[in-house]
Amino acid sequence: MTTLDLQPAIERHFAAGAAAAADPAAMEAFLALRSAIERGEVRAAEPDSASATGWRVNAWVKRGILLGFRLGALHESAAGALSFVDKHTYPARLFSAAEGIRVVPGGSSVRAGAYLARSVVCMPPMYINAGAYVDEGTMVDSHALVGSCAQIGKRVHLSAAAQIGGVLEPVNASPVVIEDDVLIGGNCGIYEGAIVRKGAVLAAGTILTRGTPVFDLVKGDVLRATADSPLIIPADAVVVPGSRAVNKGKGQEWGLSLYAAVIVKYRDDKTDLSTTLEDLLR
Ligand SMILES: CC(C)(COP(=O)(O)OP(=O)(O)OC[C@H]1O[C@@H](n2cnc3c(N)ncnc32)[C@H](O)[C@@H]1OP(=O)(O)O)[C@@H](O)C(=O)NCCC(=O)NCCS
Repeated sequence: MTTLDLQPAIERHFAAGAAAAADPAAMEAFLALRSAIERGEVRAAEPDSASATGWRVNAWVKRGILLGFRLGALHESAAGALSFVDKHTYPARLFSAAEGIRVVPGGSSVRAGAYLARSVVCMPPMYINAGAYVDEGTMVDSHALVGSCAQIGKRVHLSAAAQIGGVLEPVNASPVVIEDDVLIGGNCGIYEGAIVRKGAVLAAGTILTRGTPVFDLVKGDVLRATADSPLIIPADAVVVPGSRAVNKGKGQEWGLSLYAAVIVKYRDDKTDLSTTLEDLLR
């Protein structure tokens, strides 16, 4: 099945609902889609200069990934003394040395239907879910999560325990996008379709959701998600975890403050030095 045939086939089998489970052609279309994702030929979201955010969601690919869950039957597998039960349509991906991806031993898993480019490094334990796209030279450090359909660019460092949220449903929802040369510090959490533009640096512990206001101290702006747009962190921004005073009601009376993310500066030589030292770990 060619990539061009794939989209209408997936749309047709997804629309068939529960009936697709009895149709061998549905499984054939899903497996063709899963392989195309693993080769990096189709993606849940891709760069698109005609779109306001610079990224286009391919809702049909997300429907195809959901079709795989509908078609999957529970299947037992084992590794030594460990046993697992999961949908047979999403087994753990198997890798060979010829693919040029390092998966260091010890408790990591990459699910079928995820794309990893050559030279990606996976430090244990970490998890990459179906539909994710992880580009060249990226390091996925210990305890990091790359959620379903998340799009990770080239030379990104996802530090220890960084959580990159996934989103399969609703199918037209944008996944989290981390563009090229971004450093995501340890324990960061990036959720709800946030887009982190090229070269940005998130200090350890920064959390971004649709509800997080981001105070840009350099430009004097407050960045927020809107009804039409996810939260977007500008290129080269250096973002640190901060707080903002509550200035109304009980919160003010009690002297509370709430979490906020703060852009303290845009990347400079010192940031390059900090992030270069991190790069040496690769
Ligand atoms: C963001 C980071 C890269 C530092 O970048 P930098 O360009 O060297 O930043 P600077 O040290 O010049 O700091 C700029 C400002 O931000 C503040 N700042 C820096 N890091 C901060 C943090 N984590 N939390 C709060 N404020 C921070 C500094 O105090 C400084 O403010 P000031 O001028 O008012 O004192 C670094 O703090 C960081 O978080 N690195 C990631 C570490 C990590 O997670 N490693 C994982 C290994 S697996």
